[in-house]
Amino acid sequence: MQIQEDFDLRHFNTFHVSAHARYFVEVSTILELSTALDFQKTHDLPFILIGQGSNLLFKEDYPGLIIELNIRGIKKLGETRERIHVKASCGENWHEFVQYCLQKEYFGLENLSLIPGTVGAAPVQNIGAYGVELSDFLHELEAIRISDGQLRTFSRDECELSYRHSVFKGELRDQYIITSVTLALLKKPQLKLTYPALKTALQDYAQQEITAQLVSDVVCQIRRSKLPDPLTLGNAGSFFRNPVVSQDIADSLKAQYPDIPIYPYEGACKIAAAWLIDQAGWKGYREGDVGVHKDHALVLVNYGNARGEELFDLSQRIQQSVQEKFGIELEPEVRII
Ligand code: EPU
Repeated sequence: MQIQEDFDLRHFNTFHVSAHARYFVEVSTILELSTALDFQKTHDLPFILIGQGSNLLFKEDYPGLIIELNIRGIKKLGETRERIHVKASCGENWHEFVQYCLQKEYFGLENLSLIPGTVGAAPVQNIGAYGVELSDFLHELEAIRISDGQLRTFSRDECELSYRHSVFKGELRDQYIITSVTLALLKKPQLKLTYPALKTALQDYAQQEITAQLVSDVVCQIRRSKLPDPLTLGNAGSFFRNPVVSQDIADSLKAQYPDIPIYPYEGACKIAAAWLIDQAGWKGYREGDVGVHKDHALVLVNYGNARGEELFDLSQRIQQSVQEKFGIELEPEVRII
C-alpha cells in the first residue's frame, strides 16, 4: 500500500476528468483500510472513498485523501430451501460478480448486468435497472464505523433502501464504509421480464427458452445500444435521478404533455428525466468537449478533455431549463465533489 501525493484522478473516474487529489491510496485489505484511515486522522484530512469512480464527478481538485477500495473475495455462506446466501467484498466489480453468480446458478441479478461500479457501492444508491433493484436481493451488509473502526452488520431493513437511496446517503452519510455485501439469491430463476425495453428486446428470442443468462445477455445488449461505454466515452450513466412527484402534478403534466412517460412508484409517480431533458432540446447537444449523449438524454459525456467544472456547469443549465419548461427540479444522481 502506497500513499501517493498530488495524484491525477483521470483514470479513477468514468467521466475521465482530470482532477488532482492531495493524497491517493488503494487499499486491498481491511487492515490497509485502517492504516489509511489512521493516516487521514493523523493529518486531519478530509477524505473520500471510491470504488470504480463510476458515479461521481470531480468538479475541482480534491484537497484531502482519496481511498480506492479494492478489497476482493466472494464466498457462498449457506442456503435455505429457496435461497443461497453469497457474500462479496466491497471491491469486487459488480458486473463480474453478476456473471459469477449466473455461472454458479445463483439467480436474481440478471437484470442488473453491466451496471458499472463495485459491489460495495451498490447498496449506497440501491442500484436498479430493468425492473429489479438491489433491495430485492440484499440480505445484509458489513460496514466499518469511521469514527472508531467498529465493524457492524446492517440488516436489509436497517439499510433503508428506496429508489436510488439508502441510509448511507441519508442519515449515516460519510459515517460508515461498506466492506462486504451478502445477497440472498434464488436457487430457481424467477425472471422479471415486464420492463418495457426488456420485454420488447426479448420478442426477438420468442423461439428460444428464456433463461437467466439470456436475460443478462439481452440487458447487456440494450445497455450497450443506448448507454455509452465509459471506457470509450467518459460518462457516469444517468446524471440525474428520475423525479418522483405526486399524482396531482403527474395528472396535470399528462394533460399538457400526453406523451410524457410516467410510472407508478410507491404510491407516487416517477417521471422519466431523460424525456424532460430531451423535450427541453438537450439531447445530442455539444459544446467543446462536454455534451449530452445523442442516444440518451440523461447521460452527460466528456468527449475528451472536458473539465469537471464544465460538466457541472452544463448540468446546472439543464436543471434550469427543465425547471423553466416543466416546473420540475432535477436532482443529480451522481455524487459531485
Ligand atoms: N427517453 C427519452 N429520451 C431519451 C431517453 C429516454 O425520451 O433520450 C424516454 C424513453 O422513451 C423512456 C424513458 O425515457 O420511455 C425511460 O428511459 P430508459 O428506459 O432508458 O430509463 P431511464 O429512466 O432513463 C433508468 C435508470 C438507468 C437504468 C434504466 C433501465 C435512473 C436515474 N436511471 O433510466 O440507470 O439503466 O432505467 O432500467 O433511474 C444509472 O443509474 O446510471 C442508469 C443508467
